[in-house]
Amino acid sequence: MLPKLKILDEKNKTLRTISKAVSFPLSDKDKKMIDDSLKYLEMSQIEEYSEKYNLRPGMGLAFIQLGVPKRIFVIVDEVDQGKFEHYVIINPKIISHSEELVYVEEGEGCLSVNRPVEGIVPRYARVKVEAQDIDGNVCTYRLREDLSVAFQHELDHLDGILFVDKIDPKNPYKDKEKMRSL
Ligand code: NI
Repeated sequence: MLPKLKILDEKNKTLRTISKAVSFPLSDKDKKMIDDSLKYLEMSQIEEYSEKYNLRPGMGLAFIQLGVPKRIFVIVDEVDQGKFEHYVIINPKIISHSEELVYVEEGEGCLSVNRPVEGIVPRYARVKVEAQDIDGNVCTYRLREDLSVAFQHELDHLDGILFVDKIDPKNPYKDKEKMRSL
């Protein structure tokens, strides 16, 4: 069964909230929301379900997209055909990043942005992120390429920023030649 999630649209001002740091232990409600989000994202990436439920495939979801201003996001990464890795990221911060910038060739997507958007978003090719896991343990993640972009996209959500904010509509492919495409 597809978990019932109400994902806010970009027009909703709640998405502009700066989310608050989370303390531990997590509430059962938060844990359920994490589980539901992971399941939703995984199903959205499986063609059978994305067609059945008319879902746009999504890789990441931040709590604020569900109207909850807590510094939590989840990411589901298909590492192999039908094999998914789940990330639960709480109170994250970027410890260091590459000089090199990249962008997603076909443009970034967001489950809160329900329209085609032209343009590219500069992202660090590699980031090192420190965050807490679901039990509050501090973990370090070294991320590159698509995962690096996904983490930066979700980190932005925690600060009320959408990827569309980073695109100048008058010059949507600005500095493209200075970056590598993914
Ligand atoms: Ni998003």
